Amino acid sequence: DKPQKITVIVFGASGDLAKKKTYPALFGLYRNGFLPAGTQIVGYARTKMELDEFHKRITGFVKLPKDEQEAAHIQKQLDEFKRICHYQSGQYDQGADFDELNQRVRKLEMGIANANRVFYLALPPSQFINVAAQIRKHCYAEDGENRIIVEKPFGKDLDSSRELQAGLSALFREDEVYRIDHYLGKEMVKNLLILRFANVFFGAIWSRQYIENVQITFKEAIGTQGRGGYFDEFGIIRDVMQNHLLQILSIIGMERPVTLDSEDVRDEKVKLLRAIRPLETDDVVLGQYTASADGKEEGYLDDKTVPKGSKTPTYAAAAFWINNERWEGVPFILKCGKALNEQKTEIRIQFRDVPGSIFPGELARNELVVRVQPNEAVYMKMMNKMPGLSFDTTISELDLSYDQRYSDHKIPDAYESLILDCLRGDHSNFVRNDELDAAWKIFTPLLHKIDAGEVDSQDYEYGSRGPERAIEFVRNLGYIRHHQQ
Ligand code: BG6
Repeated sequence: DKPQKITVIVFGASGDLAKKKTYPALFGLYRNGFLPAGTQIVGYARTKMELDEFHKRITGFVKLPKDEQEAAHIQKQLDEFKRICHYQSGQYDQGADFDELNQRVRKLEMGIANANRVFYLALPPSQFINVAAQIRKHCYAEDGENRIIVEKPFGKDLDSSRELQAGLSALFREDEVYRIDHYLGKEMVKNLLILRFANVFFGAIWSRQYIENVQITFKEAIGTQGRGGYFDEFGIIRDVMQNHLLQILSIIGMERPVTLDSEDVRDEKVKLLRAIRPLETDDVVLGQYTASADGKEEGYLDDKTVPKGSKTPTYAAAAFWINNERWEGVPFILKCGKALNEQKTEIRIQFRDVPGSIFPGELARNELVVRVQPNEAVYMKMMNKMPGLSFDTTISELDLSYDQRYSDHKIPDAYESLILDCLRGDHSNFVRNDELDAAWKIFTPLLHKIDAGEVDSQDYEYGSRGPERAIEFVRNLGYIRHHQQ
């Protein structure tokens, strides 16, 4: 199932994203045999450098394992990989430089008229449209297919997002655009479609009749760490909730797509998003972290890259209400924060109490938990008899922990999975423009209030579970018992 011959052109090849994600993912695909024969990769950036120097950088992009033999093997593959990696420096606003790039790519295509091109924009959003315009004018393959990959942030609110979309859609057709939300490339997020629609028992209980609430939690145990400048412009809602967590919500909440075709899947997601009521001030609790209790970790405002006195939230909990037959009255609670007590992303579906219980005492509720990271797992919390002569009930787990069940399977990086999808021309795990629009509609009124300083925020200590108010907020939504956060 390999994609066709392709040239990948990485803009921003000397930058952070290319280093951390794009090149390691391309190399991962290469060494596992997923790049079609003849694939070439051209890095483009402003930094002038010789190919040797660029190749040295690529070596630095890849982390080698401790095992010497394995490391030697990977090193050998890396040397081969470098042979297909080229580099060209140029400005982002000079047509002549893009012309030169085009000549270069043509040569690499060796006269194949319908060779395909993937343009990967690993660039800050301020450069998107200019670069896309230069590509369209100078580097567009007239006979082959063109695909352009862009990364978030896709605007800051509905208007700015629409402006960006309008700019892009004047240059590329929607089916040529691949908007990355890397959470859609994560193994456990991709698994959701199968869990929901390939199992008869989940399908049967997936509604307000049996589900009490859904919680999607994203916790990081580190602060902004020098990325405060970027982060402060966006805040945690735009950085994580509006995209990564909302994507998960839409897959959990959507109806069954007619087929697995990417447009069918995305149609359902859009429908679900459109049924969500836009957030109001009462639907959300915000927080900002201060220094850790022991004083070892600095607070958000101590980060030198953060503007003095910034009110930008680093934590948010919000309740989403979906106005449809399946979900009315079921809160979807999304929580995300930096500098918390642990690093974890998980989805927790809490079921209702057993009606008319015949057992003494309070029963723990059933829960389905999907741990996205770390330690990928799916487990069900359920009641069981305590073994022995008593007839006591106890809460136990049906546990599918990946490190045990799939110990011989490597879980690919999200970027590997997404780049491969793009090479295959599969849009399922990319964000469509109307999906983006619907997502921004939910958040924009609230974000404007937050930006205007009209929404309170509560401090929480670095390394804590978040602001006290958030814990209370979740409790008030009816989520109290038997739950370790
Ligand atoms: C990014 C955010 O999109 O996702 C970061 O900008 C965040 O702030 C990151 O740390 C989390 O991704 P992952 O894959 O490490 O969970």
